[in-house]
Amino acid sequence: MTTSNDKDRIVIFDTTLRDGEQSPGCSMNIEEKLRIAELLERMGVDVIEAGFAIASNGDFEAIHEIAKVVKNSTVCSLARASRNDINRAAEALRPAERKRIHTFIATSPLHMKYKLQMEPEQVYEAVIESVTHARNLCDDVEWSCEDATRSDHDFLCRTVEAAIDAGAGTINIPDTVGYAMPDEFGALIAMLFNRVPNIDKVTVSVHCHNDLGLAVANSLAAFNAGARQAECTINGIGERAGNAALEEIVMALRTRRDLMPYTTGIDTRQIIKASRLLSSITGFNVQPNKAIVGANAFAHEAGIHQDGMLKHAGTYEIMTPESIGLVKSSLVMGKHSGRHAFRRKLEEMGYELGDNALEDAFQRFKDLADKKKNVFDEDIAAIVDDQMGHGIEHIKFVSLRVIAGSIGPQQATLVLDIGDEECSTTATGNGPVDAIFNAIGELFEHDATLSLYQVHAVTGGTDAQAEVTVRLEENGRSVNGLGADTDTLVASARAYIAALNKLMVKREKTAPAALSA
Ligand code: KIV
Ligand code: ZN
Repeated sequence: MTTSNDKDRIVIFDTTLRDGEQSPGCSMNIEEKLRIAELLERMGVDVIEAGFAIASNGDFEAIHEIAKVVKNSTVCSLARASRNDINRAAEALRPAERKRIHTFIATSPLHMKYKLQMEPEQVYEAVIESVTHARNLCDDVEWSCEDATRSDHDFLCRTVEAAIDAGAGTINIPDTVGYAMPDEFGALIAMLFNRVPNIDKVTVSVHCHNDLGLAVANSLAAFNAGARQAECTINGIGERAGNAALEEIVMALRTRRDLMPYTTGIDTRQIIKASRLLSSITGFNVQPNKAIVGANAFAHEAGIHQDGMLKHAGTYEIMTPESIGLVKSSLVMGKHSGRHAFRRKLEEMGYELGDNALEDAFQRFKDLADKKKNVFDEDIAAIVDDQMGHGIEHIKFVSLRVIAGSIGPQQATLVLDIGDEECSTTATGNGPVDAIFNAIGELFEHDATLSLYQVHAVTGGTDAQAEVTVRLEENGRSVNGLGADTDTLVASARAYIAALNKLMVKREKTAPAALSA
C-alpha cells in the first residue's frame, strides 16, 4: 500500500492497539482488537501496530489473529532489544502477508543509567545486535530510540546510523515523555537529516506523546523537516496524556495542503466510525470539544455563527462533516420500518452484520421504536455496538423490576439465564444501581470489583437511550461492558453482565506482564 517512491506521502502507523491499549482502563479483548484492526485496514492505515507480542499471551494471540486477517496493511509487533522479544514478535506475525518488527531501546542518559542500567556503549551494541537479529527474521524492521528528545545528539546520530547499517528500514524518533516544542522537534529531525550519513536510505518516523498538548503540532513540524511516517492513535489515546491523534494529523494535512503538501492513504470518511467504535469498546468517550471527532466539533450554537453558516458554510467551517463520515442519513427509521430498510440503514452506517446478529439487532430496534418516537442513527449505533460487544454469553439478561425512589430500601428483582438455566433473586442496596449489582452478585458469585460506572445519553430528550459503561477489575485485569436501553437501570444491568461475560473469557488467558514501552 505504501508507495515508497512518493516523496510527499506520509505513512500512517497506527498504534491504538499497542500504545493506545497501554492507557489505564483501555484494555481490549481479541475480538475487539480484531474489529478495530479491520476498520483501520478499511480506513487505509499503512501500518497497524497490533501489540507487544511478549507482553502476554493475549497480546500474542491478538497479533497472530490480526496477522491472519489483515491483508492490505502491514501488521507490526513491538519488541524490546532482546532475542526473546524479537523471536516472539516474529512468531506472532508469522501468518501476516505484510509484517514489521518494531524494536526499541532507550538512548537518553536518564533512561540508560536508571532504567536500563547500561553504559552507552552497551546500548550501542544492543542496537546493532537487536536490529540485525530482527532483520534475519523479517524484511521490514523499524528501530526506535526511546526518549530520543532527551538524548545526547552525538549519541543519537551514532545509534541511528548503526541501526540503518544493521538493516532497519524505518527509524522512529519518539518524544516519549511529550517534552519537545514544535520548533525544537523539527530542528531535531533536521539535525538527523544533516548529520546521519546514511539517513537517505530509510523512512524517518515520529512518535509524539501529548503531555504538553503538542503531540500533533510536533508531528507536523517533523514532516516539514523531512519525516515521512506518523505514529498515532484513534482519539489520541495512549500512555498518560496519550499519543498524537490520527484524525487530527490526517485532517490537518488534508485541510492545510496549501502549507503542507503531503498526502496520506486514509479514507477520512471512516474517521467518525473509528472514533465511535473505539469509544464504545473502551468506554473512553471523547470530550465534546475534541478536535475533529468531539460531539461539538461541527455544532454551531452562537446566533451570529448560525447566520453565517446559513449564508455560506465556509464562514465557520474549515472542513465538512461529510469529510469525516458524518453523513446526514437518507433513511428515517421508525416503528413501521421493516427488516429491509433496517439492513440498508446499517449498510449506510457502515455496519456489516451476519444474519443472526442482524435479526437480534432488528428485534431490539423494534422494541426501541415501540418506546421511542424518533429512532436516530445514534440509537441504532448504540444497539449495534452493544450487540457486537457481547461475544460469548454465559450469563444472559432476562428481566428486571426495580423499586427506586426516596423511600428505601431500594430493591431489584432480577432474572438471569446462567448457562441455560433461569434463576432469579431479589436484593436491596444503597440505591437502585447498587441493588441491581448486588442481585447479579447473588446470582453469579465473583470477586471482580467495579472501577468505572458511566452513563451517557445517546441522544437528547427524556426518552433517550442510556448507554452505560461498566468496568470490572479482577487480579489486575480489567474489562469494559456496554449496555444500551431506554431504561438506565436495564442498561446498567446489561453493561455489568457484558463485563462479567468478558471477564470469564479473559480468565482463561494469562495475566499481562508489566513491561515498559
Ligand atoms: O513512547 C515511546 O517511546 C514508545 C516507543 C516504544 C516507540 O512507545
Ligand atoms: Zn509511546
